[in-house]
Amino acid sequence: MRLLIDDANIEEIRRLMDLYPISGGTTNPSILAKYGDDPWTLLKKLRTLYGEERDFHVQTIAMDADGMIGEGRHIAEVLGKNTFVKIPCIPEGFKAMKTLSKEGYRITGTCIYTPLQAYLAIESGAQYVAPYVDRIDNMGYDGVEVVKIIQDIIDNNGYEAKVLAASFKNSQQVLELCAYGIDSATCVPSVIDNFTNSAAILAAVEKFRSDFEKTAGQGKTMAEL
Ligand code: E4P
Repeated sequence: MRLLIDDANIEEIRRLMDLYPISGGTTNPSILAKYGDDPWTLLKKLRTLYGEERDFHVQTIAMDADGMIGEGRHIAEVLGKNTFVKIPCIPEGFKAMKTLSKEGYRITGTCIYTPLQAYLAIESGAQYVAPYVDRIDNMGYDGVEVVKIIQDIIDNNGYEAKVLAASFKNSQQVLELCAYGIDSATCVPSVIDNFTNSAAILAAVEKFRSDFEKTAGQGKTMAEL
């Protein structure tokens, strides 16, 4: 499973890319609004930061297909045609996806709460579908289960589209989908850090270090012996 960052904080993204195997990033208008910059200035910085080798997904704002199509073309023109245009999975969104996908743009169907939204996005030409795991949980349904059904739809119909699961609040949600074999998960920095944020893990590493220092001397490492 590929891991993406669902945030727009440049320093945090730099830190996470330095530490972890990060395959790209996602934004939405609410994430961009948190950092108060001009959206295009921030998006250009993020595109540069992720570079050509990592994916970047940027969301449209318009509520109608013509508006989404115009924004999609503009996103690709400013940020590069390899940028994924995130389009909400509403009826006007599917109309926009049909046009943009025929023109060769990369599409991510977003705001997915139900498997049939994902199905319609895929048939409309989306390469990625982004179900919102925790938001579905908060509605009293099972977000992980919804994503598994979407993955089954993809597998059983022979679609090439992939799942980019989003809206995670804890490691368990990510773990279950990683074990199920979904393509990608996009997570906020705290969720990624929490994959290994355990006192037991740190204590084990520190115990090994202190045992080593008993024979090698304080502050020594293997490279210094
Ligand atoms: C992904 O790109 C979505 O916009 C995002 O994951 C939604 O997450 P939230 O439910 O934490 O806002």
